[in-house]
Amino acid sequence: MTGVSASPPARPRVAEPMASDASPEAGLDKLRTPSFRLDGRRALVVGASRGIGLAAAHALSQAGARVTLVARSAEGLEQAAHALREQGGQAEPLVLDVTDPVAVRQALADRAPYQVLLNSAGTNRPGLLRDLQDRDLDAVTDLNIKAAFYLSREVAGRLVDAGLPGSIIHVSSQMGHVGGPKRTVYCASKHALEGLCKALAWELGPSGIRVNTLCPTFIETELTRPMLADPAFRDYVQSRIALGRIGRVQDVMGAVVFLASDASALVTGSALMVDGGWTAA
Ligand SMILES: NC(=O)c1ccc[n+]([C@@H]2O[C@H](COP(=O)([O-])OP(=O)(O)OC[C@H]3O[C@@H](n4cnc5c(N)ncnc54)[C@H](OP(=O)(O)O)[C@@H]3O)[C@@H](O)[C@H]2O)c1
Repeated sequence: MTGVSASPPARPRVAEPMASDASPEAGLDKLRTPSFRLDGRRALVVGASRGIGLAAAHALSQAGARVTLVARSAEGLEQAAHALREQGGQAEPLVLDVTDPVAVRQALADRAPYQVLLNSAGTNRPGLLRDLQDRDLDAVTDLNIKAAFYLSREVAGRLVDAGLPGSIIHVSSQMGHVGGPKRTVYCASKHALEGLCKALAWELGPSGIRVNTLCPTFIETELTRPMLADPAFRDYVQSRIALGRIGRVQDVMGAVVFLASDASALVTGSALMVDGGWTAA
């Protein structure tokens, strides 16, 4: 027994683009690029108080989405939501520890469904295998895998109940596709996240919900600043990036909007590499 059913999912529906300005009947002279806009859509951005998640919140807000910003610390969230509102966006903070499945369920139960989930909460415990503790494995697993599962379950469940399409994006990593020194636990977690998303793409495709990962190379954030402060490590990282520079949070913003919007209407189960060529070596 493989545990895999031989029969296909019951009567799968074709997932239509969320806004249909790309009619198959349109003549070639009427072809229009599907919209990158997200006006009126609700976006849940997890890990939005700083780093990649904060940049993603700005990108989604600039594309017209109404964003809910999630992190554990109220202060960073309030600042981020205030900045988005100052720029004309609609943004609200939501203090939540996404490693707590009961808290995730309760927080989302009272809110309208989110058509976009951008999950950027993640952590790393770099180290040699022999030095890593059980608590390192637990911390990385709890946030990088289990929280992604909880968030996907609640967001997708609400969309399916409401009959709405959506786009789920988990920030994975180039390390979800390759190995690297002192990255045992991190690579294991990101490879698992890739598997979770591929399986979910199949489960949720018939409901018009797309599931993809975004896979950056090293980006300067609070998470990586201590590692990149070591000149030898910085040189090593730069030597592995074909474009010859370490990433900035701005480098992920276009990819976030692409995956969230109708511009990527037929993209699911995919990993979008934003890695400067690292995995092309
Ligand atoms: N930076 C890179 O080079 C890089 C490269 C590839 C992939 N990634 C991935 O990109 C993601 C974001 O990385 P980053 O560098 O932007 O990290 P970061 O600067 O450390 O930001 C992490 C964000 O997640 C929030 N967070 C952490 N634990 C949480 C929890 N239990 N519940 C809710 N929110 C939580 C943090 O806020 P609070 O602490 O207030 O909760 C913060 O807003 C991670 O998944 C990381 O693995 C990063």
